[in-house]
Amino acid sequence: MVPNECPHEEVSMPVHGEVPWPIPEHTSAKHDIYRHYLHRWFPILIGGANAYPSATYAEGFSGPGIYEDGEPGSPMIAIHALHQEVPATKGISRFLFIDDDPRCIKLLNEQLAPVVASSPRAAPSMPIKVQQGKCEEILEDELTKINAWGQPILAVLDSWGNAPVSFRLLQRLAANPSSEVIVTFEPQYFVRFVTELGDSADEVFGGDRVWRQVADLPDGPTKRRHLLDCYRHTLKSAGFGFLLDFELVDRRGNVLYLVFGTRHKLGVEKMKDALWEVDRAYGVGFRDPRDQQEEALFAVDEPQLAPLGRLVLPEIAKAGLHGRKIGTLIDYTLCETVFRKQHIIPTIESLRAQGKVETRKPGRITYGTEVRTPAS
Ligand SMILES: C[S@@+](CC[C@H](N)C(=O)[O-])C[C@H]1O[C@@H](n2cnc3c(N)ncnc32)[C@H](O)[C@@H]1O
Repeated sequence: MVPNECPHEEVSMPVHGEVPWPIPEHTSAKHDIYRHYLHRWFPILIGGANAYPSATYAEGFSGPGIYEDGEPGSPMIAIHALHQEVPATKGISRFLFIDDDPRCIKLLNEQLAPVVASSPRAAPSMPIKVQQGKCEEILEDELTKINAWGQPILAVLDSWGNAPVSFRLLQRLAANPSSEVIVTFEPQYFVRFVTELGDSADEVFGGDRVWRQVADLPDGPTKRRHLLDCYRHTLKSAGFGFLLDFELVDRRGNVLYLVFGTRHKLGVEKMKDALWEVDRAYGVGFRDPRDQQEEALFAVDEPQLAPLGRLVLPEIAKAGLHGRKIGTLIDYTLCETVFRKQHIIPTIESLRAQGKVETRKPGRITYGTEVRTPAS
């Protein structure tokens, strides 16, 4: 396999395979996250009291809109979410779908035709553009052509995991009002091809070559964490102040990162809500990439809070004898982990019961409670 081929070699993908292709496990779980997020995004951006007049949902790697057994692709999921969540008379929702494979473009147009024909929205309030081409070459101009800039854009950049998106475009998206990105990032691609990939791979990381140190790191988890840290750094430097990334692991142990960038805390909260509502039935595990023990976040229907405990203990230790207020730990949880803010109090209760932290007074833990590491 050479670097510009699809890294998902175990499933039939269209680089050399058929279009449409069978839906991979990761994709079903990823779609569920998109679905839950879009059901929040559309009403806030164009349906609610403080809505914008218009917003754009743009995909740089749209795929054909359907999978081999008829499952909907991400473009169809997005349009469905709009129809379900926003009254037909409210706002303008633009859709832009780009893919470089003509077979995907043809099939996507076929999928869209009946949906557009039966849409309750008048055509001017749901303009859809489908364009063949390379995302890295045309996405920015296509957004200009459809008048997307100046109003919110959600850019879904779901490549084969190699994320060929220019840093300049990320910067422009970050500076645009209420705009966000969801990037699919497959660490294995960069791990395997580090010696073969040229400047275009450095461009994925904003021109910074630090990611190449991956070649010298000892093991898979360390390599993955390094790449993710580099990519997080790229999105942060592009201007996305809040990042949320999580690891999807399928039954074969293949790892895929979803990295979400926004400038708004509300965006992070809503994306976390989406993550924690995902159907557990896909057989795909979710992990916080920062947890060294790589523990899955869900066991049956209960969230696993032990990884949050491990992440938060060093934060508490740093504060020394003064301790950390629960309110501060909530901010940390929201901005630095995949856990939700409501997970922190049960986590601290459990750590206190195990004697790993203490509070000044016994009893109920509230937002104002100070927590510290027990004096040894
Ligand atoms: C992972 S699939 C997209 C799946 C789709 N987002 C979904 O969830 O249903 C990636 C798509 O990107 C397309 N692609 C690969 N490289 C591209 C590039 N440089 N520019 C645009 N499209 C590209 C492929 O043809 C493929 O359809």
